[in-house]
Amino acid sequence: MGREFISIFENWANSYDDTVVGHDLQYKEVFRNYDGILDDVVKRSGSKVVEFGVGTGNLTAKLIAAGKNVYGIEPSKSMRDIAVSKLPKGTLVSDGDFLDFPAPPFSPDTIVSSYAFHHLTNDEKREAVRRYGKMLAKHGKIVFADTVFKDRDSYISAIQDAKNRGYYQLAEDLETEHYPTISEMETIFTSEQFSIAFQKHNDFVWVMEAAKL
Ligand SMILES: C[S@@+](CC[C@H](N)C(=O)[O-])C[C@H]1O[C@@H](n2cnc3c(N)ncnc32)[C@H](O)[C@@H]1O
Repeated sequence: MGREFISIFENWANSYDDTVVGHDLQYKEVFRNYDGILDDVVKRSGSKVVEFGVGTGNLTAKLIAAGKNVYGIEPSKSMRDIAVSKLPKGTLVSDGDFLDFPAPPFSPDTIVSSYAFHHLTNDEKREAVRRYGKMLAKHGKIVFADTVFKDRDSYISAIQDAKNRGYYQLAEDLETEHYPTISEMETIFTSEQFSIAFQKHNDFVWVMEAAKL
């Protein structure tokens, strides 16, 4: 479930870290202020963190550098291998995904993710949030950085804008992956008894901080 896009990451793994620093013009805006976005997720996190969609381990490294205990989950073997090679020895990164993952070795106070939650359909997102609600105590947090659109019109304009610029791969991503609107994310979190606040970082990415009520 939710693993429909893994082959993209098996192929992207080796050049992914070049993309996040802006080497791919199509994704330059998506990754604008990438480090600041990850730092914002770290700043909002507690001390016992489960991270989904670790990728090449860039957020994981920042969480560890901030002294947090981190358990990472990543479904792509190529991404996982790069993450493990970059992270301090002994960092736990398991095979799993947002919905199907080995139990963490501690009770988390925060669940984080960056640039990954849109791989789930909205129904799957809600199911994931429901499960995380069971893992977290009251006031436990979910902190996700991801592409979200203000509304459906903004989403349609972003696709058109990508096509106008000749960014056909970006346009295809936007059309095929499951990018939500702010109000869809609000519905998902509030229906599962979380409060939610949003902070915009660039034309695509928002940091969402949800707290269990
Ligand atoms: C764009 S990368 C982001 C990597 C990293 N979090 C970052 O901020 O650079 C998306 C990651 O999500 C992973 N992914 C895709 N589908 C997933 C799923 N269903 N559950 C968890 N992770 C998933 C991919 O394998 C990939 O490593």
